[in-house]
Amino acid sequence: MFAYNLNKITMHIFNGKADLIAHLTAINTSNSTIGFVPTMGAIHKGHLSLLQQSLSENDTTVISIFVNPTQFNNPEDLLKYPRTLEEDVQKIATLNKTILVYAPTVADIYDKKISSEEFNFDGLEHQMEGKFRPGHWDGVGTVVKKLFEIVNPTNAYFGEKDFQQLQIVKKMVEKNKLSVNVIGCSIFREPSGLAMSSRNERLTAEQREEAAFIYKLLQETKEKFQEHTAQEVTKWVTDNFADKPSFDLEYFQIAEEDSLLPCETKIETKKYRAFIAVFMNKVRLIDTISLN
Ligand code: PAJ
Repeated sequence: MFAYNLNKITMHIFNGKADLIAHLTAINTSNSTIGFVPTMGAIHKGHLSLLQQSLSENDTTVISIFVNPTQFNNPEDLLKYPRTLEEDVQKIATLNKTILVYAPTVADIYDKKISSEEFNFDGLEHQMEGKFRPGHWDGVGTVVKKLFEIVNPTNAYFGEKDFQQLQIVKKMVEKNKLSVNVIGCSIFREPSGLAMSSRNERLTAEQREEAAFIYKLLQETKEKFQEHTAQEVTKWVTDNFADKPSFDLEYFQIAEEDSLLPCETKIETKKYRAFIAVFMNKVRLIDTISLN
């Protein structure tokens, strides 16, 4: 463990789980709460908004920064993923609160065997991202389970931007009977409406402007869904992207929130969401909006 003194606050950075566990054991009493924000770093305001929620609801807040190799189905994506620990720590320090940063090595998490456990998420894993990123959800389940075992949080915070991930983590907790509350947090957006993402860094300023189209379209989707069927709205979205050469639409899906199954016919009592994944200059952007 080493400690940084920034803005008169102390940041504790842990590279090994043994040090982190020892520290958490020393500072926590039986009824104190630990809030946990797992990330892969390249910290942006979306991550900071999760930290802020954790800080306001817990005695201790831990953030993990770990680029998890098992969840990348594309080796180039793993290689290109930004690793900016120094800058990340500076950004976390701007919150001016004591936050424990767990930035482990791959060996600290996986020892010598970098592989995934096989999960059954009751079908959630076969929808959307599961169709385009083989092995991704097993990788996420594996690392989140390992991180939960290390941090042993009371509350864990996940962004609704990755809504399928949020549902999968909730399912993993339920199936493994883990004692952690999984809390979904709203999407933090750039002023243009573009959802904040570490991947936005790979877009030029003009591309970022243009990418705001994604959220604009999602907002219109919400309006259209009140009067039209899921199939009609899907066609309308697909047609819109056909006129936009800078985008390459991977999927657009209207699905039921709990099961993530595609919406065939609307049922009054169910909650629906639109999900989108689109490439812009080889950068994969995802977003989602609640429809009712
Ligand atoms: P990462 O992409 O770094 O995201 C970490 C957390 O920040 C996730 O819960 C994600 O949903 C949330 N987040 C990202 N952008 C956000 C935004 N604009 N507004 C609100 N929340 C946002 O998701 C992962 O890492 C990994 O899969 C992880 C869970 C850490 C497992 O490796």
